[in-house]
Amino acid sequence: MKVNIPRGTYDVIPGNVEKWQYMEEKAHDLARRYHYEEIRTPMFEHTELFQRGVGESTDIVQKEMYTFKDRSDRSLTLRPEGTASVVRAFIENKLYGEPQQPVKLYYLGPMFRYERPQKGRMRQFSQFGIEAFGSVDPALDAEVIAMADSYCKELGLKEVKPVINSLGDMESREAHRTALVEHFQARIHEFCSDCQRRLNQNPLRILDCKVDSGHELMKSAPSILEYLNEESRAFFEQVKQHLDGMDIDYVIDRNLVRGLDYYNHTAFEMISFSEKLGAIKAVGGGGRYNGLVEEVGGPETPGIGFGLGLDRLLLAMDAEGQALPVDKSIDCYFVAIGEKASEHIPALLYRLRQAGLSADKDYMDKKVKAQFKNADRLNAKFVAVLGEDELAKGEINIKNLATGDQETTSLDTLVSYLKEKL
Ligand code: HAM
Repeated sequence: MKVNIPRGTYDVIPGNVEKWQYMEEKAHDLARRYHYEEIRTPMFEHTELFQRGVGESTDIVQKEMYTFKDRSDRSLTLRPEGTASVVRAFIENKLYGEPQQPVKLYYLGPMFRYERPQKGRMRQFSQFGIEAFGSVDPALDAEVIAMADSYCKELGLKEVKPVINSLGDMESREAHRTALVEHFQARIHEFCSDCQRRLNQNPLRILDCKVDSGHELMKSAPSILEYLNEESRAFFEQVKQHLDGMDIDYVIDRNLVRGLDYYNHTAFEMISFSEKLGAIKAVGGGGRYNGLVEEVGGPETPGIGFGLGLDRLLLAMDAEGQALPVDKSIDCYFVAIGEKASEHIPALLYRLRQAGLSADKDYMDKKVKAQFKNADRLNAKFVAVLGEDELAKGEINIKNLATGDQETTSLDTLVSYLKEKL
């Protein structure tokens, strides 16, 4: 029986995996420069964490979680995002007690959401995310946005920009909530059943509805920016000033709402404006979540972060015709002429690899011509050709495939010869 891959998942095979490795290396390097340290949390958590952390009214918790009972009848959920898990780990490992604050963390890895698969929407996808805990300095908000922006730029993306908004503090959000309920209430029957539920549960969610996005009441809906109190307004101004100081090209979208409940003050998405990209434009999103650490049972601690979708970043790169500079070559390929030479090559190969070079040989009993063809196909920088005559003299012929130059070197100095040439 043939078993296929589950819907909404994919294999990353050689030829493609190099792009992923490149993006992961870039993420580690960027995190190092911004001084964020890596954290690794489990792929599954107690379901309750996401119910409380992500929010009961969100689509994620309502219909997208991979939730299952384990053999001891515990309800567990494959992580749909990284923030709730990192918050849990921050509390459980008492990182709030670290002398060095804010605590700046990053992660890379797969997330799981039971969504209707389409281009850019998968059931298993990967995020590069960061979370910074313990500071309410608006400069940190700007740092987080700058880091997301730098990552996109360093992948070569030119048409991705941060789209930012402020959701304000609790007081501002309450005032806005009341205004939203008033705005939608009389005509809520014209909206989908989800929106009807959202009206009382979390009316902000209505603005994010994919079904009713064309409704006229959506465009005229009251914006949070009109309801920001003085403090929230000043905070947003400072975030913008810092971004201006960094010359970051951002867009303000007064209607930007995020799909997760925990945000306040700064909320942003990294949007691709490339016309060639399909309907899904957000390659990342993030914002401030003061209050979430308490919600999950920790001490009062502010937080802010982002999650960038590596899958969508790859699609955005494709749309922009941006290829990653991935190197698939190997340093040296051995070609054996005759059985004696062939027997001698494994030991040479071993020495090269021990010395840090990438090298390979034929294992399919190929003829000499076909071995050379392998070297070409594998993009070898050098071909080391060993015949019986050379072997008898303790020598080996080296061909530089880029220049076509050929030289002979002693078998004893092969490693140092190649190292020097590379
Ligand atoms: P999010 O907006 O739900 O935020 O996801 C962040 C990014 O993950 C999206 O912009 C997208 O690129 C990618 N993504 C989400 N769902 C899918 C999917 N089904 N298929 C492919 N890619 C997807 C969060 O997850 C928050 N935890 C971000 C955050 C961190 N906020 C503060 N800290």
